[in-house]
Amino acid sequence: MASKMVAPSILSADFANLEKEIKAVSAAGADWIHVDVMDGRFVPNITIGIPVVKSLKKVSPLPLDVHLMIEEPERYVEDFIKAGSDYLTIHVEATKDPAAVLKRIRELGAKAGITLRPRTPVADILPLLSLCDLVLVMTVEPGFGGQSFMHDQIAKISVLRREIDSKKLACLIEVDGGINEETAKLCHEADVFVAGSYVFGRDYKTAISSLKL
Ligand code: DX5
Ligand code: ZN
Repeated sequence: MASKMVAPSILSADFANLEKEIKAVSAAGADWIHVDVMDGRFVPNITIGIPVVKSLKKVSPLPLDVHLMIEEPERYVEDFIKAGSDYLTIHVEATKDPAAVLKRIRELGAKAGITLRPRTPVADILPLLSLCDLVLVMTVEPGFGGQSFMHDQIAKISVLRREIDSKKLACLIEVDGGINEETAKLCHEADVFVAGSYVFGRDYKTAISSLKL
C-alpha cells in the first residue's frame, strides 16, 4: 500500500505566523495543508474565511485541503475555490442537496470532498461517493482542535474502504480528529491523516514521519 499522506491542520498553528508555519510543515514532509473553516452556526466556533485562504494560497507550496464546517456551503463554494482551495469538503448535514454542491465544486475545477458528523450514519454518504475525490471521516465532533479520538468511528473507514474498492472509485479516505501516532495505526485503511495538535505540539518532522509509518 502507498505511503500515507499527512495534512497538518493549521487550526493548531501559530495564527500570527501562518506563512512560517506552512513552510515549516511543508519542509517537514507534509503533503497537504488542512484549513478548518467554521461559521459559528454549523459548529460553535468561528475560525478563518475566504481572504485568509487567498493569502495562504500565495505562500503554500502544498495543496490546500479546505474543510467547510458551515451551513449552506453552496453560498460560498465558488468564493473558496477562487481563493485557491484545491480540495473543498462539505458536510452532508449542512445542505439540502449535497450532490448538487459536489457537482458544482468539480465544475468549478476543484476536487470535491464529503464529510459527516460522528453521529451521522455512514450510509448517508455512500450514494455520494461517485461524485467525490475525497471522503473525510470525523473522529471528533467538529468545532475544536485537541479533542480525544472517537474509536467508535473506525468502522466507518472499513465500510468506505470496501465500497470504494469494490466499485473502483477514485476517492481518497481522510481521517480528522484526535490523530496521533497510536490512533493513526487504528485507521490503517485510510489514505490521508489530518493532525493539528499532534503535529504543532512537537517537532514537526518527527510528528509527520510517525504518521506515515
Ligand atoms: C475539528 C477540525 C480538525 C482539527 C483537528 O473540527 O476539523 O481539523 O483541527 O485537531 P486535532 O488533530 O488536534 O484533533
Ligand atoms: Zn478539519
